[in-house]
Amino acid sequence: MKSKLLRAATLGALVLATAPVHAADGFAKPKEAVEYREGVFNIMSTHMKRLGAMAKGDVPFDAAKAQASAQLIATLSTLPWEAFVPGTLGELKADPIKNAAEFKQLADKFEVQAKLLPASAATLDGLRGQLTTTSSSCKSCHESYRK
Ligand code: HEC
Repeated sequence: MKSKLLRAATLGALVLATAPVHAADGFAKPKEAVEYREGVFNIMSTHMKRLGAMAKGDVPFDAAKAQASAQLIATLSTLPWEAFVPGTLGELKADPIKNAAEFKQLADKFEVQAKLLPASAATLDGLRGQLTTTSSSCKSCHESYRK
């Protein structure tokens, strides 16, 4: 009984020692970091599509709805980056950690555009203009990093 416990404790210590993500990164497991950033990206994407539908005229423009989506995108825009931690990166075109300065610059540029969305989304013309700019800042990062 005692040795079983001891073995479990040793195993636990080993797992902790070899885990690529540690508590310092703010995520308990690599999977948690991946799900975190994918969750954020997917929610941003849903709201970009809702705005896109209004901008194209597929859905009637509604300033309150547009601004609510825009506000969510602005808020979420700051979140994905902390989840790009070592040991959690799958297939990418380039490594966001090795190229941290460039990656941060692309993230910052995007955040600036995302934060301009809520005010712009008050009118259909404003939304159209700022949505295009924001969307191209998503794309310019994807072109270099996302596979
Ligand atoms: C600074 C870089 C950067 C910016 C800006 C960026 N992305 Fe991404 N995005 C990535 C990377 C890198 C991935 C690859 C997936 C991963 O490893 O998390 C990704 C993946 C995604 C995914 C797939 C998530 C999944 O489930 O696999 C979606 C959807 C997405 N991004 C949408 C967006 C949208 C919409 C915007 C702008 C509103 C945006 N991204 C802005 C870097 C960026």
